[in-house]
Amino acid sequence: MKKIVITTLVTLGLASTLTAGVIAGKCVGCHGADWSKKAMGKSKVVSEMTHADIAAALKGYKAGTYGGPMKGLMKGQVASYSDADLDAFAATIGK
Ligand code: HEC
Repeated sequence: MKKIVITTLVTLGLASTLTAGVIAGKCVGCHGADWSKKAMGKSKVVSEMTHADIAAALKGYKAGTYGGPMKGLMKGQVASYSDADLDAFAATIGK
């Protein structure tokens, strides 16, 4: 029994290190759990965007080359992620 508990803890620890990508929980407050809200009445509906458009938007916010009046806010959301993390995440939302 003790061995099983230890194995589980080690596995969980590993899993959380490996999935260090974008945490969607930080985004849903503004964009909606299914990405169907216009964040703060300003953004496009992300669930309607293509994976490629989302990837371009997220990397563009990070680089400061994309966005509307509230792009500074989105820059703060994505600045700490690598482009690879943003690409990988974009492939999981939108269409
Ligand atoms: C505090 C509210 C808020 C949070 C949290 C937030 N966003 Fe946004 N998001 C916005 C707003 C507002 C815009 C439109 C910004 C602009 O003017 O370009 C936007 C735009 C976007 C766009 C592009 C849509 C467009 O209009 O072109 C994507 C994609 C996106 N957000 C993804 C994310 C992801 C992924 C996260 C979490 C890591 C996140 N957002 C967190 C408010 C938020």
